[in-house]
Amino acid sequence: MCISRRDGVSGSTNVQGREVLPTNVKPVHYDLTLEPNFEKFTYDGTVTIDLHVNEDTDFISLNTNELKIHDAVVSSNGTVVESKPQISTNKDAQTSTIKFPQALSAGSSAQLKLNFSGILNDNMAGFYRSSYQENGETKYIASTQMEPTDARRAFPCFDEPALKAKFTVTLVADKGMTCLSNMDVASETDVQGGAKKAVKFNTSPLMSTYLVAFIVGHLKYVETNNFRVPVRVYATPDQDIEHGRFSLELAAKTLAFYEKAFDSEFPLPKMDMVAVPDFSAGAMENWGLITYRIVDVLLDEKTAGASRKERIAETVQHELAHQWFGNLVTMDFWDGLWLNEGFATWMSWYSCNVFYPEWKVWQTYVIDNLQSALSLDSLRSSHPIEVPVKRADEINQIFDAISYSKGSSVLRMISKYLGEDVFLQGVRNYIKKHAYGNTETGDLWSALGDASGKPVQSVMDVWTKNVGFPVPKAEPIPPHWRRQARGGSSLYPVMLGLRSKEGIDENTMLTEREKEFKVPDLDFYKLNADHSAIYRTSYSPERLAKLAKAARDGLLTVEDRAGMIADSGALAASGYQKTSGLLSLLQGLDTESEFVVWNEILTRIGGLRAAWLFEDQKTKDALKSFQRALVSAKAHEVGWEFSESDGHILQQLKALMFGAAGLAEDPVVVKAAQDMFARFAAGDISAIHPNIRGSVFTIVLKNGGSKEYEVILDRFRNAPTSDEKTTALRCLGAAEDPELIKRTLDLATSGEVKNQDIYMPLGGLRNHTAGIQARWTWLKENWDEIYKRLPPSLGMLGTVVQLTTASFSTQAQLDEVDAFFKSKDTKGYDRAVSQSLDAIRAKVNWINRDREDVETWLNKNQYLQSKL
Ligand code: BES
Ligand code: ZN
Repeated sequence: MCISRRDGVSGSTNVQGREVLPTNVKPVHYDLTLEPNFEKFTYDGTVTIDLHVNEDTDFISLNTNELKIHDAVVSSNGTVVESKPQISTNKDAQTSTIKFPQALSAGSSAQLKLNFSGILNDNMAGFYRSSYQENGETKYIASTQMEPTDARRAFPCFDEPALKAKFTVTLVADKGMTCLSNMDVASETDVQGGAKKAVKFNTSPLMSTYLVAFIVGHLKYVETNNFRVPVRVYATPDQDIEHGRFSLELAAKTLAFYEKAFDSEFPLPKMDMVAVPDFSAGAMENWGLITYRIVDVLLDEKTAGASRKERIAETVQHELAHQWFGNLVTMDFWDGLWLNEGFATWMSWYSCNVFYPEWKVWQTYVIDNLQSALSLDSLRSSHPIEVPVKRADEINQIFDAISYSKGSSVLRMISKYLGEDVFLQGVRNYIKKHAYGNTETGDLWSALGDASGKPVQSVMDVWTKNVGFPVPKAEPIPPHWRRQARGGSSLYPVMLGLRSKEGIDENTMLTEREKEFKVPDLDFYKLNADHSAIYRTSYSPERLAKLAKAARDGLLTVEDRAGMIADSGALAASGYQKTSGLLSLLQGLDTESEFVVWNEILTRIGGLRAAWLFEDQKTKDALKSFQRALVSAKAHEVGWEFSESDGHILQQLKALMFGAAGLAEDPVVVKAAQDMFARFAAGDISAIHPNIRGSVFTIVLKNGGSKEYEVILDRFRNAPTSDEKTTALRCLGAAEDPELIKRTLDLATSGEVKNQDIYMPLGGLRNHTAGIQARWTWLKENWDEIYKRLPPSLGMLGTVVQLTTASFSTQAQLDEVDAFFKSKDTKGYDRAVSQSLDAIRAKVNWINRDREDVETWLNKNQYLQSKL
């Protein structure tokens, strides 16, 4: 029997239109036993779910996906009610319904016992297999990834974040294997006549299904006792487990720090962190058992660059923040995802800044999260932070820059407005009040409101409920700012943050559509001091010139300089300003000394060059000359020798300038790269410093051919760490020879590249037109295979679609991409398609608007003739 959705029996729709389970029963406890089979790649499972019956009922509906339920027993208060119930499955709604004649009565408790089996799949979702090589042999571990809606793929469950229950997990495996779950081990017993062991874990606290995790396999670990409970890092035998030490010790310190910051003890008896060889995201915050992509947790200090270390620190601190924010207190439903991800992002930067003040991560924030947020949010296909999601296939798609970056930007803004101490006091109250429960956005605002005595909710609602951001315009004289909310009538309360010679005005809030402000000195003022607020400011060209001078005179902070460049670049691209204004601004900044500012300068030149890629060669060469003229002196000045005493930021500055000069064909840098590479190819691996490994590979591929390609391909295959392997893999696409492009594309689907890394060889092709075109042809020709390898529910198909399409910038290309996806079922990746189309469209319009403007500027400034 197939039960339709409208009769309210299975996969019903609630008042918000969400596809959720009926509320007739509620899970209280799961007793779950699983036995993976590494020969057949299947597993057998039994689950007994204790239920509270909310209303008289003769059915139980729960979530399942690609599971086979063999039999079911329904009991009530310990007595069997039905041992052969009718079981039906609704594939589309991902539910199974157990029907039985005798009704369960409201207020009673019931048990549902199910025997089932599932596939140990290779899709990195649910209970899945992950492989590694040992002595030339492929070996497997079994691991899980449940968030957002794949717990139902691992075992039958009530797979909604608000349906919290306790879990008692038992894993059955070979005696030599390590078994891990969220909790610590309660008992280990021999089963099957001593052939195997059953590892039973202690019962968890109340938790959501998406945080359940279990892992079975041959694993090694390192452990620290520097925290109240044991912390371990695990990895497969092919990895050097000593590379887990950095994350291990950082985790112990961070847990202690968070217990204080949140005034709440970490409630679990241990913290395990596992490097999983196949992993779709970067890391996953499963309570007490965090899983990671190898490169995001294992660090070889000797062969890794500064940015790799920073990424690992961020990832570890992000997932640990979730242990409270997300795991202990959980969003009510997925439209509150930003509460999880926005907060964990904010918290990881906050704690990174405490642990590594010399990294100055809040400066980086302005060119990182703030820009990702504003950039996605400027597209028509963006969405509000609080976004209604109804179906499973919509949920995966909102793990994006809005939830993470705009979400954390909103928190950064409010934390600055309230003060970080008051903000954290509100967070502590929120965690205390809602521990083991579920919340909505308003709960956070009211906790922050109570802690501060300020009207937080009314200030913040506009920011989380609307798409877009304001673009106040600073008119010349007298200065006044006009707010422009994109595509709506919503009035944003804009924290102006007016910087003048007298300091920063922290209090002025622009709440009207237009207002005049007095500034002490018309020669120097800037809005959005430190870019604490979420908006872009539009200045006239004259004002921009004054700001560039202010930058040179040391009147602006790093955040101000970087943010101003970003605003100017983005507003040129979207038509608020002329691109020539941006170019003049950048030209005046060649005395800049800071990494973060240079990074943004190069991002904006890079954006312009990428948009102009399909324009005529002369203009493209001129843009390249401009980049070279801008960066060469600085690159030569800082050099590309690295020393211990450089410090984190200087190392990154050197690496950045070296790469930028090399890619703009600075002959000295190209030669240096080729020399280093020659020594490297001859066996001296240390000839290339890890900080510039990627740049050197890219430069020599761009200026070379198959000889260089072979060496780098060999590095992908044989380098000792995942970090080095993937650096090589990311660079291969820089080779422009058609034969080599083909090899890069073939490699992507050869089986040699793990699905988790498929975007890396593809990404490398983005810098040349031949690569971009070949990549698109490859996608079209292999669509069915790619679709099968990366089912939309995984989320990676969207990434691949964006990668292979968003580099285009002509109307004809736009039409072609549009036509291709019109003929496809885009369920599960439709946001990626529309965001790509929007991004191409924006470039088409930008070029049409400013083609001449750019050419004229390049001509006037003698880059068009330049033969530098
Ligand atoms: N909860 C996410 C993992 C996740 C991502 C699950 C997408 C399902 C779909 C995790 O906390 C996370 O945000 N991981 C980030 C790392 C972080 C440093 C931003 C990731 O995977 O990139
Ligand atoms: Zn997260």
